[in-house]
Amino acid sequence: MSDTSSPRPSLSSSGRSGIPTDGAFREYISGGWAERPDLTPSPRVAAPYAAARRLRLSAQYPGARLIVPAGPARVRSNDTDHPYRAHSAFAYLTGWGADAVADSVLVFEPTDDAHEATLYFRPAAGRDTTEFYANAAIGEFWTGPRPSLAHVAADLGLATRDLAELEAVLEAVDATTLVVRDADDTLTDQIDGRRLLAAVDAETVEDEADATFARDVSELRFVKDDWELDEMRAAVAATKRGFDEVIADLPAAIAAERGERVIEGTFDRRARIDGNTVGYDTIAASGPHACYLHWTRNDGPVVPGDLLLIDAGVELDSLYTADITRTLPVNGRFTDVQRRVYEAVLEAADAARAIVRPGIRFREIHAEAMRVVAEKTASWGLLPGTAEESLGDAQWHRRYMIHGTSHHLGLDVHDCAKARRELYLDGVLEPGMVFTIEPGLYFQADDLTVPEEFRGIGVRIEDDIVVTDDGCELLSGGIPRTADDVEAWMASLRG
Ligand code: GLY
Ligand code: MN
Repeated sequence: MSDTSSPRPSLSSSGRSGIPTDGAFREYISGGWAERPDLTPSPRVAAPYAAARRLRLSAQYPGARLIVPAGPARVRSNDTDHPYRAHSAFAYLTGWGADAVADSVLVFEPTDDAHEATLYFRPAAGRDTTEFYANAAIGEFWTGPRPSLAHVAADLGLATRDLAELEAVLEAVDATTLVVRDADDTLTDQIDGRRLLAAVDAETVEDEADATFARDVSELRFVKDDWELDEMRAAVAATKRGFDEVIADLPAAIAAERGERVIEGTFDRRARIDGNTVGYDTIAASGPHACYLHWTRNDGPVVPGDLLLIDAGVELDSLYTADITRTLPVNGRFTDVQRRVYEAVLEAADAARAIVRPGIRFREIHAEAMRVVAEKTASWGLLPGTAEESLGDAQWHRRYMIHGTSHHLGLDVHDCAKARRELYLDGVLEPGMVFTIEPGLYFQADDLTVPEEFRGIGVRIEDDIVVTDDGCELLSGGIPRTADDVEAWMASLRG
C-alpha cells in the first residue's frame, strides 16, 4: 500500500499527455453508461480452506492484531510496473491469487476469544470519479474494473472494507500489533512510526516479534491441504503441456540464433495461457550452459548433439507453482556418455525418493542423493579418493553438484523459506508436505578434473512429490524420466 488516501498519481499530470479534468468534461464522461449488475458470486473453492488457515493462525496469536499486506505494484521503470503479484502470505490467508487488487491488507483484529479478519482493499471507483478515466495507474479506463466490496466479500467469504478505512487500524497500532514486514515497505514504515508514537520499542518488535510472526506464517504452509494438493497437480499438468510444446518447437529453437529464447518463449506462453505466469524465470540451458544452475539469460543457441536442460514451472491463477526439470538430448538421442551421466542422476533421484515417508528427516533425502553422486563420480575416477572419504569431510563430489537436493514447494517456488531450520532441514516429514527432488551432475566445459568426454555436460532431473501416509506420490511422474522414455517422448512429439 502506498498511501491509503491518494492512490498513485495519474498520467494526466505528466508533460506528455493532457487529459481534460475540468468539471464540465468530468460531468460529461461520468454519464451515459449502462447499469452494470454486480452479481454476487458463490464463494470460491479456496475460500473455506483459507478460512481454516486463518483459524490456525488466530489460535497461535491470541490478543494480537495481525497485519498481512498484499503489497503494492512494483515499478519496473518510470511509470511502468511489473505484473502485479500479491505476497504469498496474503494469498495463503485470503485465497486471493492472480486477481488480487494491489495494496490490499488483511487485518486480524483480536476479539475476546479469537480474531475478526477483515480484508481492506480499494474497491471499484465510481464513474463519477476522476480516477475512473484519468488515473493511468489504477483507473478503470486504463487497467480495467476492480470488484466491489460486496463482490469480494462473497467471493472470498471474508468481511471487506474500503482501503480508505485502514487509517483506523493504523491509529490502533500498539505493542500487540504484528506485520508481515516484507510485503509492503510503505505500510510497514507507517506501522513502525505508529509504534514509536505508542512508545513501543519498534526495533525489538521488528527483530523479534515481527520476525517470529513471519516465521510462523511460513511454517503454517509446510503441510498442504486438499485444495492445495489439487492446485499442485494442476500446476504440474500445465507444466507437462509446456514441456510437450518445447519438444515440438525444438526445430525452431535449433534454427534460431538464440534458440534458448525460443524454448523460454514457448514454455512461458503455455504458462500465460494455462496459468498466471511462470513460477520463476525459466531456465533454458543448452550445452555447457546447463552447468550454470540458474541460467536465465537464455541467449545461447540450441545445438543438435548437445543436451538441453529446461527447469520451469507454471504458476496457476491461485499462485501455486510447479518446479520441474528435464534434460533432453536436442536431437532426440542421448550419446553414450550423456546417457551414463543421465542415468547416474536418475539413480540418485530414485534412491532419494525411495526413502521418503513420514517420520524421516528432510535432510536424509539429500544425504541419500549424495551417496549415489559420490559413488558414481568415484567409480568414474573423478575424485581424488574414495566415495566414503568424499562423503566424510572431503566432499569432493559436491564440486559436481553444489546445490541441495530438495526444497519445499507451493505458493513460492522455494516455499516456507522463513521456517526454522529445525522444522525445515532438520524437520521430520509429515503427510501433505510437497517438495522437489532434484539431483544433478554438472561438468563445466573447462573443468580439468574430468575427462574431456564429460566436459560441457550438465544434467538435472527435478520432480515434485507429496508425502503420503506410507511413502510419497510422484506428482510429476507423468513427465517422462528415464532416458528411454525421454527418447520415446521426443520421438512421439517430433514425428
Ligand atoms: N527451479 C529453480 C530452483 O529450484 O532453484
Ligand atoms: Mn527446484
